[in-house]
Amino acid sequence: MTQPDQVEDFIRVVAVCGSLRPGSYTRMALEIALRGAAELGAQTQLLDLREYELAFCNGNKRESNYPADVFRLREEIRQAQGIILGTPEYHGSMSGVLKNALDLMGFAEFEGKMIGLVGVSGGSTGAINSLNGLRNIGRALHAWVIPEQVSIAESWKMFTPTGELPVPALETRLLDVGRQVARFAYLHTARQSREFLQLWETAPENPGGANR
Ligand SMILES: Cc1cc2nc3c(=O)[nH]c(=O)nc-3n(C[C@H](O)[C@H](O)[C@H](O)COP(=O)(O)O)c2cc1C
Repeated sequence: MTQPDQVEDFIRVVAVCGSLRPGSYTRMALEIALRGAAELGAQTQLLDLREYELAFCNGNKRESNYPADVFRLREEIRQAQGIILGTPEYHGSMSGVLKNALDLMGFAEFEGKMIGLVGVSGGSTGAINSLNGLRNIGRALHAWVIPEQVSIAESWKMFTPTGELPVPALETRLLDVGRQVARFAYLHTARQSREFLQLWETAPENPGGANR
């Protein structure tokens, strides 16, 4: 089955920015990835954790003391079919801000969703450790983590101050993360699956099959 060039606009792809730093490169990278999803016709939204007053996850079932932003974030993720997680590499792992936000959510927000991963680092090794950690989290949340991912090493010398990334190979890879999340979210919707099954079930029989 070929991948669609366009998706229907009920597909919503959000990106969660795991850096609180003003001028964050993670945020810049996510903006580009979301552009890839938008080019295919998906609705997109960047969820910048700077704009949410979250509590630390305390593991309790009683959540009445949680601030309203916890529930706002959950609802925004619930409405999405595709989620791009972006993080800076902090001490060889994802940021605590992003991990805590993920801990505040669960299957209700992530199960069966498409996830794309983007990481940035200050050093030359890149953000692969963060991305591997996030891939494990995606599995634990029963989400589908797409194979495409982007790690941007030495991010401080990659972006312009206005958020452009004048490194075509990296820019294309970011756009591809957004595109693939949108495409696979679309293919994974019930209607698309039904179409696929219908095509599958009406496929012509193997011409030589019956006579063998
Ligand atoms: C607490 C902390 C830990 C960091 N640890 C690493 C690290 O282990 N490896 C690395 O390459 N860069 C590390 N950095 C640098 C960040 O990855 C880098 O500054 C990145 O651009 C931050 O992302 P942002 O621009 O989205 O805020 C660290 C930065 C901070 C603040």
